[in-house]
Amino acid sequence: MKKQETNKNKNSIKSSRVTWKPGNMLYPVPAVMVSCQREGEPPNIITVAWAGTICSSPAMLSISIRPERHSYDIIKETREFAVNLVTKDLVRAADYCGVKSGRDVDKFTQMKLTPCSLEHIKAPGIEECPVNLACRVVEIKPLGSHDLFLAEVVGVTVDSRYMDEKGKFRLNEAGLISYSHGEYFELGKKLGSFGYSVKKAEKKPSGRRKNK
Ligand SMILES: Cc1cc2nc3c(=O)[nH]c(=O)nc-3n(C[C@H](O)[C@H](O)[C@H](O)COP(=O)(O)O)c2cc1C
Repeated sequence: MKKQETNKNKNSIKSSRVTWKPGNMLYPVPAVMVSCQREGEPPNIITVAWAGTICSSPAMLSISIRPERHSYDIIKETREFAVNLVTKDLVRAADYCGVKSGRDVDKFTQMKLTPCSLEHIKAPGIEECPVNLACRVVEIKPLGSHDLFLAEVVGVTVDSRYMDEKGKFRLNEAGLISYSHGEYFELGKKLGSFGYSVKKAEKKPSGRRKNK
């Protein structure tokens, strides 16, 4: 009897699992600042969490944008934008750019961000971000609430501040953030590197064996 009552709820419970109606729960995701500009107008920034890498060669990514956003028309018309990676120092700006519209405020000015020119596209990147990806739209796919913009990455600019003395780009030391279930997080502790699960254990330097 008790079980029947529980099943009246929208969420059906089986053992310890709770089943919800379909929704977005693919987390964590990057939250990026996408910059764009229409000729003769100030540049704008929209924060996007529905973004992802979709192809290695050619390098392609996607962003999903609601048609009601100010940036939607700009990107649809110009067919270009820049994806700018967000660090912990920029997370407040990213949040601001995700709640204020370029119709009402100049987000670059308000957040004291600097537009920087990028090769290959007219839209500026954001100077303060460690990575700017210049993107050219190749396809726009209406999906429902959002339109999916498929884009080719036509240029990559990185901040040389994060290069070590050997020329290796230390991106994971830049304090990148992710977005999960409505909250922002700084990238945490390193747990491994690509392929580490199948790598042979490193040989211990020879010497005396320690008794357990
Ligand atoms: C963390 C975060 C993620 C967001 N992700 C998206 C997204 O993926 N697509 C979208 O259309 N809007 C997204 N938004 C909302 C827009 O950034 C927001 O509506 C913004 O004010 C639009 O600016 P604009 O009108 O100047 O284009 C997000 C907002 C936040 C705070």
